Amino acid sequence: MPLHDKTPLPEAMQGTALVLDDANSSTKKMYIESYGCAMNFADSEVVAAIMHKDGYATTNKMEDADLILVNTCAIRDNAEQRIHTRLREYNKHKKTNKNLKIGVMGCMAERLKETLIENQKVVDLVIGPDAYRDLPNLMNQVDDGQKAINVILSKEETYEEIEPVRLITNGVTALVSIMRGCDNMCTFCVVPFTRGRERSRNPQTIVNEVNDLLSKGYKEVTLLGQNVDSYLWAGGGLKKDAIAGLKNGTITTESTVNFAQLLEMVALTSLTLRVRFSTSHPKDITDEVLLTMAKYHNICKYLHLPVQSGSSRMLELMNRGYTAEWYLQRINKMREIMPDCAVSTDVISGFCTETEEDHQATLQLIDAVGYEYAYMFTYSERPGTLAERKLADDIAEDVKLRRLQEIITLQRGNALKRNMKDVGNTYEVLVEGVSKRSNDYLYGRNTYNKNIIFKRDNIKIGDYVHVRVKECTTATLLGEVV
Ligand code: SAH
Ligand code: SF4
Ligand code: F3S
Repeated sequence: MPLHDKTPLPEAMQGTALVLDDANSSTKKMYIESYGCAMNFADSEVVAAIMHKDGYATTNKMEDADLILVNTCAIRDNAEQRIHTRLREYNKHKKTNKNLKIGVMGCMAERLKETLIENQKVVDLVIGPDAYRDLPNLMNQVDDGQKAINVILSKEETYEEIEPVRLITNGVTALVSIMRGCDNMCTFCVVPFTRGRERSRNPQTIVNEVNDLLSKGYKEVTLLGQNVDSYLWAGGGLKKDAIAGLKNGTITTESTVNFAQLLEMVALTSLTLRVRFSTSHPKDITDEVLLTMAKYHNICKYLHLPVQSGSSRMLELMNRGYTAEWYLQRINKMREIMPDCAVSTDVISGFCTETEEDHQATLQLIDAVGYEYAYMFTYSERPGTLAERKLADDIAEDVKLRRLQEIITLQRGNALKRNMKDVGNTYEVLVEGVSKRSNDYLYGRNTYNKNIIFKRDNIKIGDYVHVRVKECTTATLLGEVV
């Protein structure tokens, strides 16, 4: 997802080595590079925790590493091509360091399985998203000179009691995984195949993790799942079994926790903790969730609600479970409950059979909603998905790209107009770090997830400050602390 996330963080960090470097000369060192969505970044932190226990420290210098792990994404073909390029680059390090081992983890590992080892000599280890507890064991095989693989998907695994080693060490914002897998079967999407069936994490372990972050000084958490509105804790196991239990009366709603309830539990851990979440699904987001957002000042007024297309015909072919009209009704409801809430989205251009009329409907919807931000892609056919099996990928690449460009141009213009409206306003900003552009500037976000840059002065990372916006670009606001 692009890291997709909708939380800005991972997108900006694609492929960067994570920041924590706790290696010394006596430990084995691993270098983890992460691609894809926020969930992959959170998983890398779980993997770091598992490997720490096994005696590995993390390093951000690839040339020092005994083990390179790459956490991969399979969402679009270009995401996978990027990894193949990286593998060739890691291979160069094998020439200078004969003991270096290379492991591929994450969604592309799950999708390609043993073919990754067969086709890429450089790869020593392939491990899928539900098998990370097996890493130390697999590393023993690798250290014995064998190739190792575990891509078994699980019905229960949520890594719930593992305390992640925070690799992105700004000490202010953290990712907290609340569920795994996806049961939705959108026809274009590979995630249900790479991440398996949906299961929710024990809410008490989520609250414990948040309390632990608070005690370490963290100020913001982002709760993560492919479809957070579908979160349902009913004692563990697959979501589909919980639903069946509710239907046949073996489970009662008193003994379950839904997403709105979880959100409230997390918001109540501390009213100075900012709470974000991603990703919401238009067919599943409830009024209860919107009302919970409105009720707590510390739940950020920002919703990532991927629409994919503005054409109900396309949405049906995509198996998204809603129409364009339904989507707009959800947006209206959100605005009724939270008039100021910011919203962002994901859009795919050129899905199977998309006509100019369908494309125009997407442009119209984008204009009607007025998104603060959008992640925009051309359709990439993924092997094994329903669309690949049942529908022809029949829109020419140049048409996909031209439509995408029209979407981007429209969205950029809208985003700039919206940012211009922010000029003159004052926002509470949580300071997250030093601006990439200049050491004299800090950056942070307001509740609406907008990046704001301002003069450093004596302000500390982790502070809340009030910033008046003076100027803007399509992506950033520039302001002064008041
Ligand atoms: N669970 C989230 C999205 C996860 S994937 C949701 O349902 O909204 C992130 C985004 O990647 C999707 O929203 C979609 O816009 C895009 N995407 C997924 N599969 C794709 C494909 N085959 N081609 C192009 N974009 C795709
Ligand atoms: Fe993919 Fe749809 Fe699940 Fe999102 S909800 S991860 S797009 S199958
Ligand atoms: Fe995320 Fe990419 Fe997997 S978007 S779930 S890392 S396919």
